Amino acid sequence: MGRAGERIGLCNVQRRRLSRPPRAGSNIAFIKYWGVADPRLNIPLNNSISMTLGALHTTTTVEWDVAGRLSADEITIDGERAAGPKAERVICHLDLIRHLAGDRRFRACVVSRNNFPMASGIASSASAFAALTVAACTAIGLSLDRTRLSAIARRGSGSASRSIFGGYVEWERGNDDATSVARQLFPAEHWALRDVVAVISTAEKAVSSQNGHALALTSPFNAARVDAVYTMLQEVRNAIALRELERLGPLIEQDALAMHAVMMTSRPSLLYWQPGTLEVLHAVRRWREEDGLPVYFTIDAGPNVHLLCEPAFERELLRRLQTLSSVRTVITSGPGGDAEVIDQHLF
Ligand code: PMV
Repeated sequence: MGRAGERIGLCNVQRRRLSRPPRAGSNIAFIKYWGVADPRLNIPLNNSISMTLGALHTTTTVEWDVAGRLSADEITIDGERAAGPKAERVICHLDLIRHLAGDRRFRACVVSRNNFPMASGIASSASAFAALTVAACTAIGLSLDRTRLSAIARRGSGSASRSIFGGYVEWERGNDDATSVARQLFPAEHWALRDVVAVISTAEKAVSSQNGHALALTSPFNAARVDAVYTMLQEVRNAIALRELERLGPLIEQDALAMHAVMMTSRPSLLYWQPGTLEVLHAVRRWREEDGLPVYFTIDAGPNVHLLCEPAFERELLRRLQTLSSVRTVITSGPGGDAEVIDQHLF
């Protein structure tokens, strides 16, 4: 039997606690999470709605060192030993899980791998903290349902609460730790929408979304955006239910622009867009208005543009994106499933 099998055997006899690694998809928000009501618990200002991405994922193995060999947590992300704030954020999440399990003794060895560039407007923290939550909880022996896992993942990164679920997902703002959780609206099979990501830059962003959330309340436009979200939520749910991109598209564009207006007008101001971002936005509007190409955009905390279309228009969209000088590469995905355990260990 291969290494993975041997390790699961050891896990079973409690000498080492190693999870079979879960794989969690990133997600793209149609209605965004931007701004926190409670920064410690990551309780957001508004509900958000997203599609979990099947082709962009993080796989994470966690091994709790029951034998006490490690003096500190060891974290490896995409083949590199993590240090500084990135490692501290993971350690903080491991501390939470140690606390929930009622056992603070064990250090952990964490190995995580993304199949897409981190910190570039494709939400790596969403899939990363969803996968870490499932891996660490399973390995330490916490048997939790998805709602509880969603609440724990939220503490690592708000959008990770949504990546516990597949398909089309809503994160309810809630009032406290137990009620601020995501739920699935529709499974992935409900609608084979495509997310075509026009990558303008893969550089790590200057201000992480984690730090950006704290600034939302300093923007004079924030309250107006949150009000607008609450009038749009039911329309967004309906448009997804009816699989009507012509209804959904204008709503997601409006909220993406509103979120970036809040970002740009907060103090200090956050400007995630690059010239290439605008090149794509103008092109998409032109293609839609002049040629009837039904494609709609959204943008997270980065310069890259996510374009949503029906599968029938993806080829044409890809062809056109290749003509834009600022598009470095294109990544595509449809909706994916729940965060799930796979059989292949990372170490
Ligand atoms: O989960 P965080 O802290 O990385 O925040 C995500 C913020 C956005 O991606 C901009 C919006 C969203 O809802 O995913």
